[in-house]
Amino acid sequence: MFETAQFIADCRAASAADPTHKAVREVLARALSEPAAVLRGLGEPERPESRKLFHSDALTILNVVWAPGMMVMPHDHRMWAVIGVYSGREDNIFWRRIPSTPNKVEAAGAKALCEGDAVAFDSDIIHSVINPIDRLTGAIHIYGGDFFAAERSEWDSLTLHEHPLDREQRRRLFEEANARYEASQRHLAGLR
Ligand SMILES: [Fe+2]
Repeated sequence: MFETAQFIADCRAASAADPTHKAVREVLARALSEPAAVLRGLGEPERPESRKLFHSDALTILNVVWAPGMMVMPHDHRMWAVIGVYSGREDNIFWRRIPSTPNKVEAAGAKALCEGDAVAFDSDIIHSVINPIDRLTGAIHIYGGDFFAAERSEWDSLTLHEHPLDREQRRRLFEEANARYEASQRHLAGLR
């Protein structure tokens, strides 16, 4: 059984006892050993969103629902991150800075996350995220700090050049994903 309040309390206790991502990843991995229970506890994903479950200077916990095919451009976090999927799939592409071209990144690897997977990223990781399936993906994202206050970077999808994270653009990304998702649902309903 998964209870959101208990999960948040467990994450807070783990993060207080161990400032690295190790203990929090274990809490998330334990919860995701039963992804269906997490799904029941958080509720079936209904629309693309990034919903705050907990937020402090030391810890941020989000319930992130990705739209089918949704993609987030390369970005950093500047704090450790622990990500686990409770419904659907999430593909991560990792990027690294190019020493000879300081503001540009190149692809460095990838990690596919299935239901039940929980991974930890160090604070210097740069990644982009794709939901590769045709339905909503639900994931818990936990960050070792105040995710909303940190100065962060993202890298342009077209040029792969660095610029400061545009939080308004990020908010619009979910808004637009929502509008597209609702339109696709209406379209599908019309076909039935
Ligand atoms: Fe991220």
